[in-house]
Amino acid sequence: MDIYEALKERRSVRKYKTDPVSEDKLKSILEAGRLAPSWANKQCWRFIVVRDEEKKAQLAASMPDSNPARKAVGEAAPVVIVLCADPEASGKQDGKDYYLLDSGLAMQQLMLAANAEGLGTCWVAWFDEAKVRTTCNVPPDFRIVALTPLGLPEKQPSPRSRKDLSEITYAEEWGQPFTS
Ligand SMILES: Cc1cc2nc3c(=O)[nH]c(=O)nc-3n(C[C@H](O)[C@H](O)[C@H](O)COP(=O)(O)O)c2cc1C
Repeated sequence: MDIYEALKERRSVRKYKTDPVSEDKLKSILEAGRLAPSWANKQCWRFIVVRDEEKKAQLAASMPDSNPARKAVGEAAPVVIVLCADPEASGKQDGKDYYLLDSGLAMQQLMLAANAEGLGTCWVAWFDEAKVRTTCNVPPDFRIVALTPLGLPEKQPSPRSRKDLSEITYAEEWGQPFTS
């Protein structure tokens, strides 16, 4: 799949089929995350692949009832990937913690690869970190940045709107319209 096609097609999928994800696809997707760039190439992230039904239910229970991805994590998707990162293994500059960027890039690469494999994902960051830590036995020096369900989409959601390019792009300096 062409990169632009993958970027255009990716959606936050919250309804999944229960069909399993093949080991080959899972490995390819994790590999896409492994290849991400990072601060000084420190690769501060870790992925936890959760397939155990009881653990998935516990992960869902760590999310508020009103989180729209709760059911996908707890019931439908055959796999959940938990994204952890060690803040001390990445850079900090002028109050900017680059572990979030490093791990976010890795997760987004993984998600785009999943899309190219015909699988759905959804960023989930609204959860109780302490509960996820207990469920997955994550050591205290790692933050739990996000998680995603992974599986065959039940249906492809329609696209969410985005700001126009002119609203988010300037030419040469702040506020100057960019024209191409
Ligand atoms: C950092 C981050 C955290 C998010 N957390 C959640 C979440 O907890 N639950 C949820 O249903 N969606 C969550 N989302 C998904 C966004 O709602 C979604 O990306 C946005 O509405 C755009 O839709 P799209 O991904 O289908 O293009 C999150 C997205 C990001 C990038």
